Amino acid sequence: MAKRVISTEMTEEDGKLEGSLRPQLLSDYIGQAKAKENLKVYIEAAKARQEPLDHVLFYGPPGLGKTTLAGIIANEMGVGIKITSGPAIEKPGEIAAVLNNLKEGDVLFVDEIHRLNRQVEEVLYPAMEDFAIDVMIGKGASARSIRLDLPKFTLVGATTRAGLLTAPLRDRFGVVHRLEFYTPKELQTIIVRSAKVLGVAIEEEGAMELARRSRGTPRLANRLLKRVRDFAQVKYNGEITKEVAVFALDLLEVDKLGLDNSDRLILTTMIQKFQGGPVGLDTLAAAVGEDAGTLEDVYEPYLIMNGFIKRTPRGRMVTQLAHAHLGLL
Ligand code: ADE
Repeated sequence: MAKRVISTEMTEEDGKLEGSLRPQLLSDYIGQAKAKENLKVYIEAAKARQEPLDHVLFYGPPGLGKTTLAGIIANEMGVGIKITSGPAIEKPGEIAAVLNNLKEGDVLFVDEIHRLNRQVEEVLYPAMEDFAIDVMIGKGASARSIRLDLPKFTLVGATTRAGLLTAPLRDRFGVVHRLEFYTPKELQTIIVRSAKVLGVAIEEEGAMELARRSRGTPRLANRLLKRVRDFAQVKYNGEITKEVAVFALDLLEVDKLGLDNSDRLILTTMIQKFQGGPVGLDTLAAAVGEDAGTLEDVYEPYLIMNGFIKRTPRGRMVTQLAHAHLGLL
């Protein structure tokens, strides 16, 4: 029997509802059930009070939907959004200008918020707490500060490193959510939805194969979907079946559990150069030619979640599972 094709061409109505791969509404957002449920309540309550939503902090590995959720918050609240990032704001005057240009109720999304410098961060404290900034005028003995009122706004901060946020900044967020890796089932649903938006036919089993190899990460799932679509188009009849997905993902060197060459290099280096560990983060980073921060934020969380690496007080160690997965027993 032919397998059921669960996504085909997009209808005009669908097009209006799902213009992009990013969902625009909470009801279209798949996964992160806890964050979604809570945000729904907070948004409804804030709207009923005609107040801006309290400041929200999202943390967790990259690609799990922090920016998407910020956009959804703005949409659901019916306000505008301004997007910036920690390293993009260098001077206190720059953040003051951004804040001053917001409209009442707007969302200010600051990605990589742990990378804001101290002086910039200090402008944020009264801004978050009292919707005001203190501006110094004059110099020397005649210098004084005046308080400028700001429009009320919601700061949505995102970070891969919650541990690097200073306590005063962290404490000023009323809502804090850790985003989790997605289950294969959730990713399958996201992939089917994205395939529909892209107008590519996909079989349930093809979507599941992609989902299993997407490291629990929608951003990667959508990226792999686009690459697999290319193979489906050029080497097959255009439809993403399980066979197409396996063929393309094997060529892309993404293995059955979603590990890529970098992940495998990390694990084999630990096994072959450090006898499985324990090895310090910086040493390991140097050995694989990666930045230590990237190793810790991007690669390690998925390897730890899969039980391939564990952290010990003396450093990182690989597990038996990693040996077995790599066939290096
Ligand atoms: N596209 C990317 N992330 C998504 C999510 N969490 N839900 C639905 N579509 C998505």
